Amino acid sequence: MTKKRFIVFLTTVTTILVLALQACVHESFVDPISGVCDPDSVYYEKDIQPILTTYCVTGCHDEVTAEKGVVLTSYNRLKATTELRGGEPFHSDVYEVIVDSDEEDRMPFNRPALSNENIALVRKWIEQGALHNTCDFDTISVSCGGSQVSYKQEISPILQASGCVGCHGAGSVILSTYEGVATVAANGRLLGAVTHDPAFLPMPQGGAKVDSCNIENIKAWINQGALNN
Ligand code: HEC
Repeated sequence: MTKKRFIVFLTTVTTILVLALQACVHESFVDPISGVCDPDSVYYEKDIQPILTTYCVTGCHDEVTAEKGVVLTSYNRLKATTELRGGEPFHSDVYEVIVDSDEEDRMPFNRPALSNENIALVRKWIEQGALHNTCDFDTISVSCGGSQVSYKQEISPILQASGCVGCHGAGSVILSTYEGVATVAANGRLLGAVTHDPAFLPMPQGGAKVDSCNIENIKAWINQGALNN
């Protein structure tokens, strides 16, 4: 290697290393903005990641498969592997592909389109800035099965965070509305499914069992009359 070539080589290697390092540092520094859940806001960790996890990640956009280089396992990966522009859903890949009118291009690939409700959530989240935001939805249930379990504060967020709503926006079991949840609360299917009672289908389908604290909350809420509180 000539001296000149060596310098070029060295510069290239250094540049690559610096870029790689910046990428890592940058990624690990984006912390979610948290606070009390505001019903008018859409939150990445509470609302958007569960949709991606349910419909997009496994087998297509996980770290290993990474179809078209797109990985949807976290906000940082979404941001790094797709174009995402706060305020501009039609310049954000994740929105464009779920509303594509050409079925061959629309995502989830080869599957039914996302529900209008999920599409609206993604759109609203981007319109609100496409932030890496979250709210205190996962710390709500520090006390398990309290004497006044709230549908709005606890049960609905648990179903959201467990990916239930993603699959059950329509069909025989609806978990996106109070009425739908109250129906399966009353006929025993909700508790049967989340406790993995062998008489019922174990839920969430293909996902990790709801943690015991949240199962206690669901149980307590049902016992307290499954109110729309
Ligand atoms: C990946 C998709 C998916 C996810 C996630 C999912 N379900 Fe289901 N669930 C299904 C399918 C499919 C069925 C069977 C068909 C039907 O009844 O809609 C089902 C059935 C059920 C039933 C009826 C069970 C029975 O034996 O009668 C209940 C209740 C239920 N799910 C609740 C939940 C809850 C609660 C969660 C979240 C903890 C959840 N599901 C997550 C797909 C899913």
